[in-house]
Amino acid sequence: MTSLLSVKQLNVPMVEWLLRQAQFYLDHEPETRITGHAVNLFFEPSTRTLLSFQIAAQRLGLTLLDFEVDQSSVKKGETLLDSLQTLDALGVRLAVIRHSDNWTQAIENAGLKMLVINAGSGVHEHPTQALLDALTIKQHFGRFAGLKVAIVGDVRHSRVARSNAKLLQMLGAEPLFSGPEVFKPQDLGEFSWVTFDDAVCEADVVMMLRVQRERHSSAYTVEDYNRHYGLNAERLNQLKPDAVILHPGPINRNVEITDEVLTDPRCRILQQVTNGVAMRMAVLQWCLREESGEQLVSA
Ligand code: CP
Repeated sequence: MTSLLSVKQLNVPMVEWLLRQAQFYLDHEPETRITGHAVNLFFEPSTRTLLSFQIAAQRLGLTLLDFEVDQSSVKKGETLLDSLQTLDALGVRLAVIRHSDNWTQAIENAGLKMLVINAGSGVHEHPTQALLDALTIKQHFGRFAGLKVAIVGDVRHSRVARSNAKLLQMLGAEPLFSGPEVFKPQDLGEFSWVTFDDAVCEADVVMMLRVQRERHSSAYTVEDYNRHYGLNAERLNQLKPDAVILHPGPINRNVEITDEVLTDPRCRILQQVTNGVAMRMAVLQWCLREESGEQLVSA
């Protein structure tokens, strides 16, 4: 059994297994079921990650508990660690956590029996998003080696960008970044930072990022941002014919991505959402694999 807190825990064979297993779950139901309780603890809003973990857990047979933060003892001052120790004592086998803090180190040192999956830790990591993005890229290109993946926009505040950079590099792709200088991070200096026009022309994959207004006050108006850093009809013409467009969602429609881009055949945003269920099934199975005693279908 293994928690999944960071893409740094993964290696290429593990990722290849997760990609195969997720692809299998797109067309098949699991042959055996996993018993026990899992819980979603989301301290930040979510649609895609929260619901896809719910569907994934149900399809695998897990009983998923909803931890409603606003109705819980968090409101009486209970800390995340105390909540997790309580859930551990209740016999919950696995927690899926999203929180605005960088909470993973504290959890690693807490001695919990329960497994933990990181569904978002501040601006730091979102490993299952990077995995489902990798699945979407693999489905189109069949490979990662030699692909240029431009990650564009509010990179500084993006846990998706950080998890993707590490995972794509491990898989042999070339991540590169672009966006307003104010969103240029200090911790991703090993990767190229290019102009948006160069990113659009060179990339095999263009991954647009949401401007995370809840984490900062952007100096840009919507019109300014879209003109300089938005993927729009004009820039679609510069994109390679065989490129794909990704966005982790939720989108700021007509800010970082315009209506016509969303209907372009190269846009894979809803395919990413569909892949999210299958990849989270694979991740849950990977985390619980020894406990379930289950044969890994594509091993
Ligand atoms: N991509 C992503 O994490 O979306 P949600 O915030 O809707 O879960």
